[in-house]
Amino acid sequence: MVKHSKKFYIVGNWKMLINSIAEAKTLFGALSRASLKQKKAVVIAAVPAPFLALLGSGSKKAVYLGAQDVFQEASGSYTGGISANAVESSGAKYVIVGHSERRVQGEIDAVIARKAVLVIESGMTPIVCVGERARDVDGKYLAEIKNQLLGSIAGIPKEKIDSIIVAYEPVWAIGKAFGGAMEPTLIHEMVIYIKKVLSEIVGKETAFNIPVLYGGSVDDAAAQAIIGAGDADGLLIGRMSVNKEAITKIISYVK
Ligand code: PGA
Repeated sequence: MVKHSKKFYIVGNWKMLINSIAEAKTLFGALSRASLKQKKAVVIAAVPAPFLALLGSGSKKAVYLGAQDVFQEASGSYTGGISANAVESSGAKYVIVGHSERRVQGEIDAVIARKAVLVIESGMTPIVCVGERARDVDGKYLAEIKNQLLGSIAGIPKEKIDSIIVAYEPVWAIGKAFGGAMEPTLIHEMVIYIKKVLSEIVGKETAFNIPVLYGGSVDDAAAQAIIGAGDADGLLIGRMSVNKEAITKIISYVK
């Protein structure tokens, strides 16, 4: 397991936007070059599973590999399932679990919690995604996030909770056009809120060492603002992470 860093996390979630080995190699090459020049960031590429072994065997080690999901059982007759151990043996160090694009397909907190446990048992770091579907004036969304977070990490032994990364991704801000990312000050509030929820389980000191990232329509301008404001421990970037120019710029902003 890779130890948490105080450096700024840049996680690229390639989603299903890269669909050939040729494209994957080109993008990963650009990412590696940008990362080699950047000593202040931890760069992670969460790539489609078929590319893991290929990219993992490359000589450029400036970028950590991650997967976008794993199956909720360790092994067995699960056609199409990809186990945490298989992902780990392909070179991944991180796995996104509970992404909203999987939650909308019916994935519930209990399943996500199983996945997070298996990821940790395989020696990798789960990036646990949480985020409200919508905001309401009464602040009920805070309870929604708390329930999601606690449900998604239920089952992780208390002493292992410090090994997770949390990605706060308000569903209403994901996949929007330019200008869709959340305001840095609001992000700051949510990062603190999530750390407070975690501190109720693991204590303040441990909780505040768990990286909390922001994700949702991060483009070049939003990244610059959020990095500048220092309000989150990193970014989880979807569409712009497969845009070579945009992700290269975003990586260069980390100071
Ligand atoms: P987006 O995706 O940056 O394309 O909005 C973020 C995410 O879903 O992780």
